[in-house]
Amino acid sequence: MARIRPLLVTLLGLLYSAAAVAIEEQPQARSFSLPAARTSERYPVGKRSITGTTNAAHVDGSILVNITLGSQTLPVVFDTGSSILWVWSTYYNGSLAGDLYYNISASTTWAQLPGYTFNISYVDGSGVSGVVGTDKVTIGGLTVTGATLGAANLGPSAPSTFKAGLIGMERGSMSVKNSAGNSVTRNTWMQNIASSLPSPIFAVYLPWGSGAAQSSIDFGYIDSSKYTGTLSTVPLMSGTARWQFTSTSYYVNGVHYSVTTTTSGQALIDTGTTLLLVYPEIAAAFYAAVPGAYQDSGEWVFPCSTTTFPTLTLDVGGVQAPVSHEINWGPWATFANGTKICDGGIQTTSRTTMTFGDVFLASNYVVFNDAASTIQIANIVF
Ligand SMILES: *[C@@H]1O[C@H](CO)[C@@H](O)[C@H](O)[C@H]1NC(C)=O
Ligand SMILES: *[C@@H]1O[C@H](CO)[C@@H](O)[C@H](O)[C@H]1NC(C)=O
Ligand SMILES: *[C@@H]1O[C@H](CO)[C@@H](O)[C@H](O)[C@H]1NC(C)=O
Ligand SMILES: *[C@@H]1O[C@H](CO)[C@@H](O)[C@H](O)[C@H]1NC(C)=O
Ligand SMILES: *[C@@H]1O[C@H](CO)[C@@H](O)[C@H](O)[C@H]1NC(C)=O
Repeated sequence: MARIRPLLVTLLGLLYSAAAVAIEEQPQARSFSLPAARTSERYPVGKRSITGTTNAAHVDGSILVNITLGSQTLPVVFDTGSSILWVWSTYYNGSLAGDLYYNISASTTWAQLPGYTFNISYVDGSGVSGVVGTDKVTIGGLTVTGATLGAANLGPSAPSTFKAGLIGMERGSMSVKNSAGNSVTRNTWMQNIASSLPSPIFAVYLPWGSGAAQSSIDFGYIDSSKYTGTLSTVPLMSGTARWQFTSTSYYVNGVHYSVTTTTSGQALIDTGTTLLLVYPEIAAAFYAAVPGAYQDSGEWVFPCSTTTFPTLTLDVGGVQAPVSHEINWGPWATFANGTKICDGGIQTTSRTTMTFGDVFLASNYVVFNDAASTIQIANIVF
């Protein structure tokens, strides 16, 4: 079919083990306003009073947030599937004309870590490498002075006109190489800010599609206006930096199914993946209840005239979470007789762990808590 396949951005980074974690008390529920550009250093442990919030945007299959490096504000991908913060920079030795990048020589607060490098590959084959340094990094009004970041100089990815880089929000620390070429860990921006927050959490609110509210990310607090019902707390798998949990059952139109595939029966939440990628048996059960649905070269598609979809819930560590938005993911093909076929937002994965990407997050509000080794989840306010 003469059609470019829709973007399926998948930015899961390389795997490494999470740092040891301790149990924290439950999040406190409210914030107060924060003057911009306060440094975490001014808030000793014990004075946990600052919170932050930033808008997020869905652009070209990516979730973008603005971050300020030194005094330059740039949009970057917000990725819970990897851990390095990096941006395209003036170290890049190709053309940056028209693209978004960080001008190192215009920052008075940048300090390169001599000999340090980073190199990250993503599961979709993209990736970057470059030098490593520290700078003042502000997100949602929260500033970390001396946050570690990578200044990219080489592909295989290329600079872009709508995003400058990526902030990794996986659990634990980031891994870079020192001047001896050895892997060393550095704190992430989230690890640095966590001790200044009333609770060491971030909450992801990503309603998506026609009529959806403004997406946002909150740091240090839970905004009860962004979900309905109560938050369910789900334990995370140990031994992985991923936001990963068991997922062994599902419901289609109220009928219960157990996952039978000889897989791990697990899933992870990845804001860096656009679609909802489930085991083939789950997609098959779902699309069996969509009249006219079929697989085109492995991709689940259906007539664009479809207006109602079966109800689907997926197991998030024992909690059934709904999937009710972005199921029609847009045009796929048009037949000679005029019939239009649309692409499904729910697709299959051949991996042993399912990836619950942005299509899943369009229906669910999620609170991420590395210290407690949990996520909390509730139905989103659309
Ligand atoms: C980033 O800031 C620019 C300029 O204020 C704004 O136009 C854009 O919408 C912001 N992007 C996000 C993702 O909030
Ligand atoms: C550009 O990058 C390549 C690959 O690392 C390197 O061989 C080359 O020297 C660089 N060019 C400049 C002008 O820095
Ligand atoms: C970077 O900033 C410096 C200092 O403001 C400026 O002279 C230079 O033209 C900028 N370079 C690029 C590539 O934007
Ligand atoms: C980065 O890692 C990839 C995958 O291991 C490798 O192919 C590439 O050469 C590395 N790039 C640099 C600049 O080290
Ligand atoms: C249109 O063409 C497609 C592909 O040949 C076929 O599957 C479908 O049934 C046709 N629809 C109508 C309304 O004729």
